[in-house]
Amino acid sequence: MDFKLNEDHQMIYQMARDFAQKEVAPKAAALDEKAEFPAENVKKMSELGFMGMMIPQEYGGAGLDTLSYVLVLEEIAAACASTAVTMSVNNSLFLGPILKFGSEPQQKKYLPDFASGKKLGAYALSEPGSGSDAAALRTTATLKGDKYILNGTKNFITNGPHADAVIVFTTVDKEKKHKGITAFIVDKNAKGFSVGKVEKKLGIKASSTSSVILDHCEIPAANRLGQEGEGFKIAMATLDNGRIGIATQALGIGKGAFDFARRYATEREAFGQPISNFQMIQSKLADMAMQLDAARLLIWRAAWMRDQGLGIVKEAAMAKLFASEMATFVTKEAVQILGGYGYSREYPVERNFRDAKITEIYEGTSEIQRIVIAREVLKEILR
Ligand code: CAA
Repeated sequence: MDFKLNEDHQMIYQMARDFAQKEVAPKAAALDEKAEFPAENVKKMSELGFMGMMIPQEYGGAGLDTLSYVLVLEEIAAACASTAVTMSVNNSLFLGPILKFGSEPQQKKYLPDFASGKKLGAYALSEPGSGSDAAALRTTATLKGDKYILNGTKNFITNGPHADAVIVFTTVDKEKKHKGITAFIVDKNAKGFSVGKVEKKLGIKASSTSSVILDHCEIPAANRLGQEGEGFKIAMATLDNGRIGIATQALGIGKGAFDFARRYATEREAFGQPISNFQMIQSKLADMAMQLDAARLLIWRAAWMRDQGLGIVKEAAMAKLFASEMATFVTKEAVQILGGYGYSREYPVERNFRDAKITEIYEGTSEIQRIVIAREVLKEILR
């Protein structure tokens, strides 16, 4: 077993760190304060190939592996969690299912523009009445000639207000429960498509989140992703990959807070010496560092397994669960180390603290991850 990154991975890690620290970090506080979408960051990330990292080069992507993706995403998230989730959703939740389940014409039509970052994608599964219980969704799709008519409202859609196309999950027959769920690629210009309420949030304020309304929305049948009834499996398989992305976002948030608090502890003096001399601060730093490393190892294992073509249901859920709870813990401790300054908007750790919480909620809550992991470990004894 080799824990050393190869030269290519080291290079991309360093390149992402330089970019994130020089270009992304200095703007993060202002974007958060104004809740402004990080359009300029997205443009620059597109130029660097970060918006379609795992899409083959012939489709306009960077043609890299999952490990490269998580290395880059960690650095972006350490600088700005909002920019990181914008990138993650485009890579994992929008491009991922088109690459895996899309027809050739769909891949030719959508991958180049969205992988090169000319356009931005979103993923719409949740609804006002169904979040964790994804199979209970109520948005309908009815076939009429060569078109489907979509009706319903999707909620909490990351990138919603800025997305050029959205993968929308519907049901063609509610009686069939998850077996009726059907996915579509919906262009923002489709008749009957509109962006609804934009959310005001606790954290990741610069990421745009809205509802999406489908009011007799007409979609060519050619835009159905997979077969009728295959949508639930597409949604779940996509989330397995998405969860590696959110785990990595959490890792970056935690790392950003840890790095800041560690430096602060060596510079801030109390009782005549740097507070890093005190064992209570050292204990916090030790626990934070250990949890960050453990999260990174879980994420790298899931990424590596994905690159080997192995199943990652349990491993992605473990990475996401551990990393998101780690981020909440680490950012809380970072605020505590800074004391009153940690609570002030003058310093980034209060933003890190607010940004961390969502990673325990979206792309499957911690409770859902525990269900997924428990089901998998119970299945293992039957094998
Ligand atoms: N991959 C492929 N297929 C899968 C799968 C997976 N990971 N997980 C389940 N399935 C299949 C099952 O094998 C089963 O297939 P059969 O019908 O052939 O038996 C079928 O799907 C139904 O599975 P379950 O019985 O396990 O379904 P369930 O209703 O009990 O739900 C759940 C399982 C894990 C709770 C699921 O509903 C879930 O993950 N919920 C959370 C949803 C979620 O993460 N939402 C986040 C929204 S996206 C978001 O946050 C976007 C954003 O903008 C950031």
